[in-house]
Amino acid sequence: MIPQAFVQDLLSRIDIVDVIERYLPLKKGGANYFACCPFHGENSASFSVSPTKQFYHCFGCGAHGSAIGFLMEYSGLGFVDAVKELANQAGMQVPDDGQRVNAAQSGEHDRLFDAVAAAARFYRDALKAAPIAIDYLKRRGLSGEVAARFGIGYAPDDWQALQKVFPDYQAKTLADAGLVIDNDQGRRYDRFRGRVMFPIHDRRGRIIAFGGRVLDQGEPKYLNSPETPLFEKGRELYGLFLAQKAIRDAGFALVVEGYMDVVALAQFGIENAVATLGTATTTHHIQALLRHTDRVVFCFDGDNAGRRAARRALENALDALRDDVTLAFLFLPTEHDPDSFVRSEGAAAFRQAAAEATPLARTLLDQLQEDLDLATAEGRARLVHDARPLVTRIPAPLLKLQLIKAVAEASQLTQAEVEHAFGLAGPQAGTSPPRADSPRPGPRRPSGFSRPARGPGRRAPSTTATLLRLVVHHPALAARLPADLLPAETPESRALVAIVDLVSLGEPLPAGGVGGLIERFRDTPHAETLSRVAAELIDTEFDDSAIETLFEDALRKLGADAVTREIDALLALEREQGLSTAERHRLSELILERRNLANVGKVSDL
Ligand code: UTP
Ligand code: MN
Repeated sequence: MIPQAFVQDLLSRIDIVDVIERYLPLKKGGANYFACCPFHGENSASFSVSPTKQFYHCFGCGAHGSAIGFLMEYSGLGFVDAVKELANQAGMQVPDDGQRVNAAQSGEHDRLFDAVAAAARFYRDALKAAPIAIDYLKRRGLSGEVAARFGIGYAPDDWQALQKVFPDYQAKTLADAGLVIDNDQGRRYDRFRGRVMFPIHDRRGRIIAFGGRVLDQGEPKYLNSPETPLFEKGRELYGLFLAQKAIRDAGFALVVEGYMDVVALAQFGIENAVATLGTATTTHHIQALLRHTDRVVFCFDGDNAGRRAARRALENALDALRDDVTLAFLFLPTEHDPDSFVRSEGAAAFRQAAAEATPLARTLLDQLQEDLDLATAEGRARLVHDARPLVTRIPAPLLKLQLIKAVAEASQLTQAEVEHAFGLAGPQAGTSPPRADSPRPGPRRPSGFSRPARGPGRRAPSTTATLLRLVVHHPALAARLPADLLPAETPESRALVAIVDLVSLGEPLPAGGVGGLIERFRDTPHAETLSRVAAELIDTEFDDSAIETLFEDALRKLGADAVTREIDALLALEREQGLSTAERHRLSELILERRNLANVGKVSDL
């Protein structure tokens, strides 16, 4: 597989206009370039190429994509060959992490591995000569034995300590391996200084990267290697190589948040723990673990950050679910992380807690019910509403069925009613089969206050659709999206959530316009969503100040949408069983609130 980082790098170095121009004569018109479409016979130029979006689109036949997509379609090449061809044109060498393509390639990887290994040796030796670091580790209760097992080291507090290891300190390899940083003045210095060093191993036990912790106080607390040809954060797990055997023996894998947690647990004889690398738990992580075991316990700190992380992990876990595996969640008491818990309560208590971890389905139901009052119809309606996007995503049919039954029980509906509300064809849903293209269940139009308070029947683009358009236009905005407020109901909002996830993984956003985003999501449903939006916008240019205003408006409107969702839930309830006086009252309150919100922030639609 070609590493995503390479694909993105490639796309940021080439220009789609140059690429297509090799095959088609392009004419400039406004911000874009035009040609007769090569993919269908035509005499007028409906084929449009946007240099800012790095995206092409044909208004005639609907063909669209990135530079890579163009080459695939135009030359009939597969993805890998198209990337190779473009890399060739750009003078770049395609890395390959499976079978290595050629000697030069493998030489480059070997040089990176060698450099990282040499640095790790240096850090390990430096630890022996650094009383302040030894002292720090002792204060944290680490034994020399465990420090040695994990290869823990120390990066001296010098700007160029690595010069002692690498006679050619200016070698490109050092920068490629993430060991040094080149500043604007072209001066080079060590990335890690004055830090306790945790080497990160790949699945074959080779060191590929580091995490470095400051001694005591300082920012950032942990500094990690950047992504390199050897190191892709969303895929690697700290400690997995060392934990493999223990995972098999214990019959489960434990996922914790921190380096120190893995190390401390190992010191207490709990050796089946791994940590994500300062990122959310991804589907890749879970799949990697499920190759070693059929039970994974996610352990989260008891604080709010831990709960948020759990929520995210749970959502990512849904896509990896199978009926023959168990994923479970362990929440530690508020004041604890695994390191402090095992030290204060002991290994037996920790083992017991892990054994009693709450299975995913229960955790999901608990989370859904967290702020809801199931004694009220509103609360029960909201439960069904919120559960829908999560439960319908689960690929494990039996577990999905269990959850549907549990939601039905909690919401006092029948299983068939829940399935109907979820847009799934339940046994009794035959009377009104849900349409694949309509996201809302039920064709019946409710009477009375079913219409939005103001305005005609036309629905303006949803807030998430507006946000996605802005992000497609200006990907950097993704960093400012509030993940918590994004509902994951529509393809647009799911694409937004996926982009926000990238940002939270610390992945740099694709530099190559929307073309880069689309390639990042190749082979996922998001690519199609992004392409569709980009195609709609190919002729639109915004001025930057307008973007900011639109973006802020849309963020405000996200909040207002939460109100609308509650209104919708009540309306659905009205359809199902009618409303009590209190519910009716609540509904008019909400409608009033929505009207006020609409008046305060006049929302602009794109
Ligand atoms: P925590 O802040 O919970 O730290 O970060 P910790 O693991 O308890 O560390 P100690 O006990 O204070 O030493 C959890 C994990 O998040 C990532 C690291 O992987 C860390 O282990 N992280 C945290 C970073 O990458 N950078 C940071 O600045 C902080
Ligand atoms: Mn800690």
